[in-house]
Amino acid sequence: MLDSLPSPWALVKVVSELLLVPLLSVPNDWVSFNASMNGRLRQGVPFAQPCFASDLNTHSSLKCPEIQERYEDHLFRSESFGAYQLTNWEECQTTGDKCLLDWKSPLNPVAFQPPQKCSQGGVPSYYIEVKGPNDVRAAYAFSRKTNIPLVIKNSGHDFIGRSSGPGALALWTQGLKRIKLERQFVPVGCLSAPTTAITIGAGQHFSAIYDFARENNVTFVGGADPSVGASGGWVMGGGHSALSPALGLGVDRVLQFKIVTADGKYRTVNKCQDSDLFFALRGGGGGTFGVVLESTFLASPRVTLEVVIGKYNNTRENSVELIKQLSKGAVQLASDGWGGYVTPSLSSGVWINPVFNSTTEAEKSAASVVNAFRSVRGTTMFLTMDSFSDFFDTFIAPSPDPVGRPFIMATRLIPSGAFDDERLIDLMANAMVDSDFGQILAVAPYGFKDYDEHGTSINPAWRDAVWSSFMSYSWNFDATLAEKIGQYQKLKRLWTPVRARTPGAAVYMNEADIYEPDYENAFWGPHYERLLSIKHKYDPHHLLDCWRCVGWKGAQDKRYRCYPNVKESTDQA
Ligand SMILES: Cc1cc2nc3c(=O)[nH]c(=O)nc-3n(C[C@H](O)[C@H](O)[C@H](O)COP(=O)(O)OP(=O)(O)OC[C@H]3O[C@@H](n4cnc5c(N)ncnc54)[C@H](O)[C@@H]3O)c2cc1C
Ligand SMILES: *[C@@H]1O[C@H](CO)[C@@H](O)[C@H](O)[C@H]1NC(C)=O
Ligand SMILES: *[C@@H]1O[C@H](CO)[C@@H](O)[C@H](O)[C@H]1NC(C)=O
Ligand SMILES: *[C@@H]1O[C@H](CO)[C@@H](O)[C@H](O)[C@H]1NC(C)=O
Ligand SMILES: *[C@@H]1O[C@H](CO)[C@@H](O)[C@H](O)[C@H]1NC(C)=O
Repeated sequence: MLDSLPSPWALVKVVSELLLVPLLSVPNDWVSFNASMNGRLRQGVPFAQPCFASDLNTHSSLKCPEIQERYEDHLFRSESFGAYQLTNWEECQTTGDKCLLDWKSPLNPVAFQPPQKCSQGGVPSYYIEVKGPNDVRAAYAFSRKTNIPLVIKNSGHDFIGRSSGPGALALWTQGLKRIKLERQFVPVGCLSAPTTAITIGAGQHFSAIYDFARENNVTFVGGADPSVGASGGWVMGGGHSALSPALGLGVDRVLQFKIVTADGKYRTVNKCQDSDLFFALRGGGGGTFGVVLESTFLASPRVTLEVVIGKYNNTRENSVELIKQLSKGAVQLASDGWGGYVTPSLSSGVWINPVFNSTTEAEKSAASVVNAFRSVRGTTMFLTMDSFSDFFDTFIAPSPDPVGRPFIMATRLIPSGAFDDERLIDLMANAMVDSDFGQILAVAPYGFKDYDEHGTSINPAWRDAVWSSFMSYSWNFDATLAEKIGQYQKLKRLWTPVRARTPGAAVYMNEADIYEPDYENAFWGPHYERLLSIKHKYDPHHLLDCWRCVGWKGAQDKRYRCYPNVKESTDQA
């Protein structure tokens, strides 16, 4: 964005530089806020700062060698306030201000030795580690008084940059780790039959939840990443899992939220209380309607899984052919409750099924997978696993999707009716394989028919989708703005034909192009108007705004100054 207005913080800096006074002190508003918070205000220190000969007057408890060694470690990043999983949100893409290592080689001194400087980038200036509703109330009051933007951050996995922001005050929910199983859970104020449920603090991450589910002999339906948070952006944006084709999305399984809304009220929100807000939180997106402190999900009995894994030699031709062959059986697999991932960069694909009780049944149902791998001289293997937690530890945790680098993506939820469009599948497969990292996520809730038709606010087109396919690009640590824009342009060029051949298809808001065309329709379809009225009801002063969230007022706000102005340049391209 070519925004020439400096932020208040930048003004302070300019003034202090003019006076030749080093910027040692924290500006006044912040000092008094810190005092009112009993000294709990913290500076947002960029993750890799200890590796730089420091220019920032900040301190980090981390040490450079550990940062270098664990630069791509999901959980380490989640637990460091100054880190973002996708580092294009840690830097400021427009200005190039950053404090990053060379992700291809974190030991490379060129990235962090002089003349390189550690700059704040997109990391919020200050943060409060949220302990309870009062912290949130205080932050709301501070933001209303000062107009300093608020950001809610949990694990920092957001692909759209909605958990970062230059100059902002962040509310960091990562420390809320409570987790509890109830065998007789009834949402507050409801008269429904009791169910088994897990209540999860806003900061709790998947790998810990799966361990907890194993210890308690239940199934938790969650995503394919160790450190994404179940109660934050994941569930509020939709929340998919390899179990979703059989058991539904996060939004289908969440029973209750506890949330502090912009009026300062700490609400228990479910089907029976503030049901309009419950609808909005089931797909309307994180960061928009309030700060969630915990949420409660249905827990199913532990179930054994039938698993099929395929391996092949991932030449470009093989990957395209494999995707084409897999597309032929995709709808039937999803109807039968199979979910999983095809990852060309790992030369593999894996599907799970909680419905079938025997390998014989599984082999019959998944014959198309065997044939597809055979067609590229690959191999497949069937096995049975004791639980989803075991599946996660065996097949997902050892090779999660790459983080610790810039990562921009375009995705599409491919509708069931599009799978006989050979041209579409060809365009999509080629785009994925030509990009830096592509993947097919067979995670749409296609075989799950027991959903509440009016209860969720995700685009209803999700229900008819089978795959979410995605392509992505990265860039080097020292990329220029022109090079970054070039990557966005390539993304647009390759994905436009896929969009054009799937009119009306949904896009997963949590895994989307920051410039997704007609995003209101793509993310929410017919629900947008209702979501907007709920936003106005619960956050009339827009204390919580984020990029292309419900009620977004556009890119001109200074808080979005790190989003590159790609739209115009690509429209001209
Ligand atoms: C490597 C990787 C793997 C992924 N795998 C999956 C997957 O298998 N399935 C899937 O569905 N998605 C997956 N995602 C996408 C993921 O769901 C989103 O990135 C999601 O936004 C992460 O939520 P978070 O709260 O952990 O992250 P954050 O970046 O911290 O927050 C994301 C958004 O939620 C808001 N938010 C966070 N906490 C709260 C809160 N307590 N109250 C209110 N708003 C809040 C933030 O303001 C922001 O808008 C993956 C992402 C990555 C990078
Ligand atoms: C807030 O006050 C505490 C206690 O005085 C201090 O340790 C901390 O550094 C202050 N935070 C900021 C951001 O200045
Ligand atoms: C775990 O749950 C399964 C499925 O509900 C049940 O068959 C099994 O007996 C349970 N095991 C224990 C140790 O409770
Ligand atoms: C994969 O295919 C390429 C091209 O045919 C070949 O050179 C290579 O040896 C193969 N690799 C494996 C592991 O089979
Ligand atoms: C699997 O077994 C359960 C319990 O015995 C049964 O209810 C179910 O119908 C079986 N599923 C299939 C697909 O055969």
